Formats: sequence, C-alpha cells, structure tokens
Amino acid sequence: MSNREQIDLKRIPQHVAIIMDGNGRWAKQHGQDRSYGHQAGAETVHIIAEEAARLGIKYLTLYTFSTENWNRPSDEVSALMSLLIESIEEDIFMKNNISFRLIGQINKLPQDVQDRLYACVDHTAKNTGMCLVLALSYSARWEITDAVRNMATKVQRGEILPADINCDDIASHLTSSFMPDPDLLIRTGGEIRLSNYLLWQCAYTELYFCETFWPDFKAKEFQKAIYDYQQRERRFGKTSEQVS
Ligand code: IPE
Ligand code: IPE
Ligand code: MG
Repeated sequence: MSNREQIDLKRIPQHVAIIMDGNGRWAKQHGQDRSYGHQAGAETVHIIAEEAARLGIKYLTLYTFSTENWNRPSDEVSALMSLLIESIEEDIFMKNNISFRLIGQINKLPQDVQDRLYACVDHTAKNTGMCLVLALSYSARWEITDAVRNMATKVQRGEILPADINCDDIASHLTSSFMPDPDLLIRTGGEIRLSNYLLWQCAYTELYFCETFWPDFKAKEFQKAIYDYQQRERRFGKTSEQVS
C-alpha cells in the first residue's frame, strides 16, 4: 500500500507549515553552487503545493526567506530575490484553484519582487481551494513585536483596555490572523529547530523533522509526514481518555 492510500482523507490537517531547509547542502552534494539548490527547491514548492491541494489541505505556509536570511552573502540574497520573480507559476495555482498570500515584512523586498508577488496575490484572490502562503522576510519575534506595538498604540488611544487583552486579541494582531494555527509543522534538512518560525502559532502544533534536503522532498515524503501526523493523539493538555 502506498503512503497516499494509507492516508485518512477525513483527518487531513487543515494547516501545514513547512521549514524548507537543505537547499545549500543539496547543491554542495551535487557539486553545484547554492543558488542551483534554491532553483531545485523552487520546483519542489510546486510539487508539494499541488500535492497538498490534492489532499485537501486548506493552508500551506512555506518558510521561504527569514529576517535572518538577509545576513547571507549578498549574491545569494539577490539570487533568491530573482528566483522569487522567476519561479511563480500562476498557471499551477489557477489549475489547482490555489489562492496565494504572503506574510512577513514584504515592504523590505525589492520593489520588482513586491510587484510580481502582489500581482499573483491579486490574480489568484478569488480561488476557493487551498491557500498557499509564503513567509518572506519573516521572523516570529518581529511579528509578535509588531503586534505588541500595534496593541500598545490602541491602548494609548483608549481603544482597548490592558485588562481585556486575551490570547485571541494577540492572535488577531499577527500577520497570520486569517488562518488557523498549524496542525503540523514539517522541517526538512535534518536540523531540529524552529529558526524563528510561527512561534506563537505553533504552541500546540505537531512537529515532524526529516533528514531529506528540501529539493529531494517529493510527494511521497509529504504523504509520509501526513500519515505520521495521523498516527498521533493530540491531547491539548487533557488525558488520553478525555480526548478519545
Ligand atoms: C533553505 O535552504 C532555503 C533558505 C533558507 C532560503 P538553505 O539555503 O538554508 O540550505 P542549507 O541549510 O544551507 O543546506
Ligand atoms: C530557516 O532556514 C529559514 C528558511 C527555511 C527560510 P535557515 O537555514 O535559515 O535556518 P538556520 O539558520 O539553519 O537555523
Ligand atoms: Mg538552512
């Protein structure tokens, strides 16, 4: 039985977040430079987006470029920016009824990259299937800091009372406020860390780490992660008896 057949289509995670890691090491393994790895990684994005849409996942959030990644060598950063423009394939999104959205400090990206990304957001906005979200110039600590700043301004203006602030208010001030928290977070490439990704939202997310470098992470590996997720019992602090 293949992984796809083993998956219970009635218990598909609503939101899957992915830390797409390992492009550089994959390129090195193939005797190529890092940007070759990023190019190969962009192809994997399309494969996984199509597979996720097919399985009925509602939100797929891909960690594409972190705030910390701005500190990489400038030629790698420029190669990644160009790749963003080159590799957006609207026809794949239209064919699969995928809407495209962004989180992060998008205004930090070069203007031509912003224009290309927002054109795709607009073009796919009416699609009703899966929402594919790219996290760009994103860091969770930036996002939480920004939310705190916005809430403090509202307090100062007398629009909200400090004593009334609850978890939902904080969540509603995050850039991810339009989606539920991730049910499953996948990190490829062998590192066991979150690297400043969706820290607030992953409070109760199931974590899945694998060694495979992102360019080699194909539909079968993705299905394996979904299947693994479905074997777990999510207890949210309760006992097994309470949730079963
Ligand atoms: C992930 O792959 C892509 C980005 C962070 C932009 P890496 O470029 O981090 O690849 P490794 O971790 O060096 O192999
Ligand atoms: C995390 O990968 C960021 C993205 C995948 C976009 P990194 O390769 O930047 O993470 P660290 O530096 O190894 O933690
Ligand atoms: Mg990395």
